[in-house]
Amino acid sequence: MAQLLNLNLTSLVIMFISLMSILYQVEPSSLIPKPADQSSMAYIRASCKTTLYSNLCIQSLSKFGHYSPLEQNPQQLPQIALSVSHSRALQTRAYLLGLSIQLNNTMKKNDLYLDVQNCLNQINDSVDQLGQSIQELRRMNLPKDIVAVNIDDNFLWHISNVETWVSAALTDASTCVNLFNPDSRMSKVKAGIRVRALNVAQVTSNALALFHGYAANDVKV
Ligand SMILES: *[C@@H]1O[C@H](CO)[C@@H](O)[C@H](O)[C@H]1NC(C)=O
Ligand SMILES: *[C@@H]1O[C@H](CO)[C@@H](O)[C@H](O)[C@H]1NC(C)=O
Repeated sequence: MAQLLNLNLTSLVIMFISLMSILYQVEPSSLIPKPADQSSMAYIRASCKTTLYSNLCIQSLSKFGHYSPLEQNPQQLPQIALSVSHSRALQTRAYLLGLSIQLNNTMKKNDLYLDVQNCLNQINDSVDQLGQSIQELRRMNLPKDIVAVNIDDNFLWHISNVETWVSAALTDASTCVNLFNPDSRMSKVKAGIRVRALNVAQVTSNALALFHGYAANDVKV
C-alpha cells in the first residue's frame, strides 16, 4: 500500500514537472508574476493615506496593484479592501473554531474556552456582515457617468447598508480584541487570538475609510 502510494506520488511529480516544462515552453510569460501597475500603486498609496492604519493598508492591498487601472473605477479599491477584510475574518474564524474544538476535547472549559466562544461568535458575525456588504457594494456597480445622474434614494440606501454592516463588523472584531487585553502574563494562545482579531479590526477599519472616501468623493452624494 505504501509502495503504491509512493509510486503514485512519483508519477504525479513527474507529470507535474512535464506539465510545467510544457507550459514554460508554450508561454513562459504566464509563469512570471505580472508587475504592479505604477499608476494603480500610486492610487493605492494615496487612498491608503486616508486610513487609520495606512501601512497595513498599503501592505494588504499592494498585491492587487496589477489590477490596472484601479483609479479608473473608484469602486474597485473599496471592493478589494472589503474582500481582504472578509478573507481575514474567515481565516480567523477557522482558527478560533479549531481552537474551540481543541479546548472542548481537552475538557478545559475554563475562562479561555468561554472567551474563545465569545470571540468566535463575534468574528462569525463579522464574516456575515462583511459578506453582505460586499454583495451590497456589487449592487451599486453602475458606470461612473450614470452614477452622477442617478443618485436616488435607492443608491443612498445601498451606501447606508454597506456603512451599517462594515461598522458592525468592525465593532464585533473590536469586541473580540478587547476580550484579550495584553498584560505581562498573557499566554501565547491569547496573544495569538488578539493579534488575529486586531488584524481583522484594522483591515476592516481601513476598508470602511476607503468606502467613505468612495461614497463621499467619487459619488458626490
Ligand atoms: C464538546 O465535547 C463533547 C464531549 O465532551 C461533545 O459531545 C460535543 O459535541 C463537543 N462540542 C463541540 C462543539 O465540539
Ligand atoms: C455562524 O453564524 C451562522 C449564522 O449566520 C450560524 O448558522 C453558525 O452556526 C455560526 N457559526 C458559529 C461557529 O458560531
